[in-house]
Amino acid sequence: MAGLITMDDLSNEEIISILDDAERLLPVAKGDLYLPLLQGKILGNLFFEPSTRTRMSFETAMKRLGGDVVNLGDVKTSSVVKGETLFDTIQMVDGYTDIIAMRHPRQGAARYAQDAAQVPILNGGDGAGHHPTQTMLDLFTIRQSHGKLENLKVVLAGDLRYGRTVHSLSHALIRFGCEIVLASPDLLRMPKEIVEDLVAHGAKVTETTDLYGNLDSADVVYMTRIQKERFADEDEYVKVAGAYKLDASHLDGCKSEMIVMHPLPRVDEIHPSVDVTRHAKYFEQAFNGVVARMALLCRLLGVTVPEKVGGEA
Ligand code: CP
Repeated sequence: MAGLITMDDLSNEEIISILDDAERLLPVAKGDLYLPLLQGKILGNLFFEPSTRTRMSFETAMKRLGGDVVNLGDVKTSSVVKGETLFDTIQMVDGYTDIIAMRHPRQGAARYAQDAAQVPILNGGDGAGHHPTQTMLDLFTIRQSHGKLENLKVVLAGDLRYGRTVHSLSHALIRFGCEIVLASPDLLRMPKEIVEDLVAHGAKVTETTDLYGNLDSADVVYMTRIQKERFADEDEYVKVAGAYKLDASHLDGCKSEMIVMHPLPRVDEIHPSVDVTRHAKYFEQAFNGVVARMALLCRLLGVTVPEKVGGEA
């Protein structure tokens, strides 16, 4: 594999195989077992946009597997402020590292970086484009809870216009026969070309502004933050801020096995009263970022995860 820029870079078989690898790596992700599969390898973390989970879970994943990490650090203290281009930065980090995890505010930046690099690029989010490593941890979490990925009803809610996590996730879910409900304010609807693509692939897709009326039949409710930083006009943001606020009382009629997910950070779209319900999965989901990224790092670096981890071979 070259890199992971969008979910189109992975076949369904590869997705399942990476999720299987991730499952076997769980004791390593938890720190119960040390397995230095990536000893001698260096990850370059290039985050041109803020991140807590993606950056830190990549770093944890690499270190749990015995590898090392170099960070661009704060963009303000890097040579980016002197005018260095993305192309030149990538050319250089390509020489320093074996693999690069990258986040950039510009849609398409990860693809551009892959064209400039010899080492694999893992897209950790490109503007309002894609976030495929998030999708892998989302799929891991869904499979962990439901025992399968196939034929689930998934409600994607909130900012579907700018939210890159739901762009990548929706593409992946329909490949496993999931039904998708897209719940958003009109202003934040899923881009038309994505909806058309989902439908062209035979998916059952419903667009609605009604989140709460779609909770009872859902297997997964995936909430997202309204991406204030991507609005050109603050007045437009104010019109949709606080559009959905899920609290525990909304979950009374839900299926017992329904899970509430969120890529985090949250603002006000999930009330803390949900945290103590059996449905809340978002903190486990965030932890799963470590194990999913461990499996992805191994796969892209051509390192095989043993069939038995921590037991007899
Ligand atoms: N889920 C996610 O991408 O979180 P961060 O922005 O903290 O990396």
